[in-house]
Amino acid sequence: MIRKKGSLILCGTFLFVTWNAILVLLLWGRPLPGQLGESGQVERPTSDILGDLLQMAKSFETELEMQKEILEEIQNHQSLWQPSNRDRPKVVAPPQPVIPILVIACNRVTVRRCLDKLLQHRPSSELYPIIVSQDCGHAETAEVIRSYGNQVTHLKQPDLSDISVQPQHKKFQGYYKISRHYRWALNQVFKTLSHSSVVIVEDDLEVAPDFFEYFRALLPLLKSDSSLWCVSAWNDNGRDGYVDPGKADLLYRTDFFPGLGWMLLKEVWEELEPKWPASFWDDWMRQPEQRQNRACIRPEISRTLTFGRQGVSLGQFYDKYLRYIKLNTEFVPFTKLNLSYLQEVTYRNAFEKEVYNAPVVSYEDVKQGQLKGPGPFRLQYSSKDSFKVMSRNLGIMDDLKSGVPRTGYRGVVSFISRGRRIYLAPPPGWTQYDTTWS
Ligand code: UD1
Ligand code: MN
Repeated sequence: MIRKKGSLILCGTFLFVTWNAILVLLLWGRPLPGQLGESGQVERPTSDILGDLLQMAKSFETELEMQKEILEEIQNHQSLWQPSNRDRPKVVAPPQPVIPILVIACNRVTVRRCLDKLLQHRPSSELYPIIVSQDCGHAETAEVIRSYGNQVTHLKQPDLSDISVQPQHKKFQGYYKISRHYRWALNQVFKTLSHSSVVIVEDDLEVAPDFFEYFRALLPLLKSDSSLWCVSAWNDNGRDGYVDPGKADLLYRTDFFPGLGWMLLKEVWEELEPKWPASFWDDWMRQPEQRQNRACIRPEISRTLTFGRQGVSLGQFYDKYLRYIKLNTEFVPFTKLNLSYLQEVTYRNAFEKEVYNAPVVSYEDVKQGQLKGPGPFRLQYSSKDSFKVMSRNLGIMDDLKSGVPRTGYRGVVSFISRGRRIYLAPPPGWTQYDTTWS
């Protein structure tokens, strides 16, 4: 700023002095009254000095006017020769990708809790448009969504018909409707609205303060690493006491598709959409044909919690596990952190080293809290049954889908027990999941 002003003054002064010098020279050389001009013509004689002075003042006035115009012109084009502006390329920040949030709603007015939290923590409405897709045609829920006005986009799934299912699946009608809704809503997001990514949130999820920050930070990794197919906000074993509260920034790769607040790319949707299942879409995602050995990123401490005890699955796990999942409270500036440790080869090598360098301990020692030292410790399982017994008794989820334990990465489940890091792990040399384990 000071430099700009300085050079302007310098330029102006120079021009002013030059102009006046020319002027003085011109006036100097002007023929005196009565003298012959170069053309031989006689200049009009001026009788009074006052008139002469007035004449001079007038010409000064026009000349000053001209100088003013020149100076103004200079000022207008100043940016052209300011070295600081001319040499430095214009720094245009790359456009931030838009990440829409798709809220899947049906007939629960408690969608309000989900939307309130999303709106409370949303840093920008342009970068995170919220699309609420409503199934079920429930008027009261529609009214709640409508009350948010233009803060959200309200879509309504048009096909509310019953789905014909085999008699023994009658009780699973809800799962069929959920699947139909997902397909329709995701097609809206990617095909109709032409987005290139989405974060899917169900109406019974509450999000953490750094929910948006987390997904924005991981979008580049998801896009560039084809061994990943999702980023999830959820830790299936994220109950209080089972996670390290001091490690809010810690992220993992997992072979288990967690869902429950997760990011999906258009390319993956285009791959899944043609074969999208009629029901149980989440377990279908967990099958090897769909997963194709791809992993998801998940946090140590969940960025979503579920408050939906009354749901389609009738609280199958709700009272035992889900209601105790700890929601992260401390904002982690993920977009400013180096997340390269999550890249496939780097991560796999570091993880295997960490797990298999940890001393092996017995189940009894863990259970009774008799571990010596700070950890981490490795607890080995070698069969489906030993996995089930140990996980159940230590309070982590014991179910497997297509052979993959919840939160597992290469068969390893990482959790905290009595303040110590435990890796519940298969023997060294693991190569693949046994899909018959369920
Ligand atoms: C469980 C899963 C859920 C998954 C679903 C389908 C957990 C905690 N939840 O559902 O992530 O999507 O299985 O396999 O693991 N909905 C409709 N139409 C309906 C009924 C429900 O769109 O006819 C919507 C709800 O608004 C909600 C979602 O589907 O967003 C899941 O429904 P919910 O009742 O919460 O079932 P869960 O048992 O939690
Ligand atoms: Mn639910």
